[in-house]
Amino acid sequence: MPEKALLEVVGLPYPLVASGKVREVFDLGDAFLMVATDRVSAFDVVMREGLAGKGIVLTQISLYWFARATALTRHHLVDDHAARIAALGRDYPELQYRSMIVKKLKPLPIEAVVRGYLSGSGWKSYQETGKLFEYALPEALKESAQLPEPLFTPTTKAASGHDLPINCVDAAQLIGETCFEQVREVSLQLYQMGVARAAEAGILLADTKFEFGTDGAGQLYLIDEVLTPDSSRFWPMESYAPGGPQPSYDKQFVRDYLESLDWDKSPPAPSLPETVLSGTLNRYIEAYAKIVR
Ligand SMILES: Nc1ncnc2c1ncn2[C@@H]1O[C@H](COP(=O)(O)OP(=O)(O)OP(=O)(O)O)[C@@H](O)[C@H]1O
Ligand SMILES: [Mg+2]
Repeated sequence: MPEKALLEVVGLPYPLVASGKVREVFDLGDAFLMVATDRVSAFDVVMREGLAGKGIVLTQISLYWFARATALTRHHLVDDHAARIAALGRDYPELQYRSMIVKKLKPLPIEAVVRGYLSGSGWKSYQETGKLFEYALPEALKESAQLPEPLFTPTTKAASGHDLPINCVDAAQLIGETCFEQVREVSLQLYQMGVARAAEAGILLADTKFEFGTDGAGQLYLIDEVLTPDSSRFWPMESYAPGGPQPSYDKQFVRDYLESLDWDKSPPAPSLPETVLSGTLNRYIEAYAKIVR
């Protein structure tokens, strides 16, 4: 069922406060209810077709990582999360496994990207300038090569349209020096945590994006989704071979198909063929099965 329809059928009595490309956010009063839909977005455009169950996979992967992130940072899940989700599930079983109940926080205006490998817009930057945005790199690195060390490459968080790379100095100006240092430090630590666990599952965590928010007292929290195939590049370790793009568990499959078309990446999105849809869903489920055991 298309996800808009699901949410209409469910008929939640709570006000909808935000509708992102993938998530719907409802106001529970003391907290937000974040429902991950089955929508697929690529190049910041929402596709016509959804992937049945994708929202569940995203939510369950995020919950796995939030539990592990507590050693490194505060995060947005309410303290009695499991009990509150179980209660929600009694009234709205369709929403139980695709929902998070979270503290109401103010998202920082940057996205905290960490890269351990040269791929995507990072590879594009290296080809054009020999650098990874502001960072100098060795010469003659291949596409998908491992970086000498993981690097923090923040972007703006655009209200609509594309997020753009931003220098660390500018990012620090935007959110404050102390907050920036904390975001950078925690992001690199979370990435390392992800790398270690993914490696046990035979997966390379090439890069990822975190979001953070603050409470009224200015305390920092990890928010949104964590180390999912929507926010990260996961590559199978056994076939890793620098020198080109890698097969992956994330939506690169959708991106590759779209790149093969003559589409200008502005809405409306072209239809995705059944093979691309099922192939993508299978990859998401495989990533889930490998990581969350
Ligand atoms: N605890 C939280 N408090 C407030 N906002 C949050 C919290 N966690 C996540 N968010 C915000 O909720 C939205 C989630 O929706 P979704 O992931 O679909 O958005 P998106 O399309 O990726 O991004 P955007 O809405 O910024 O275009 C994001 O804007 C995210 O920053
Ligand atoms: Mg998002």
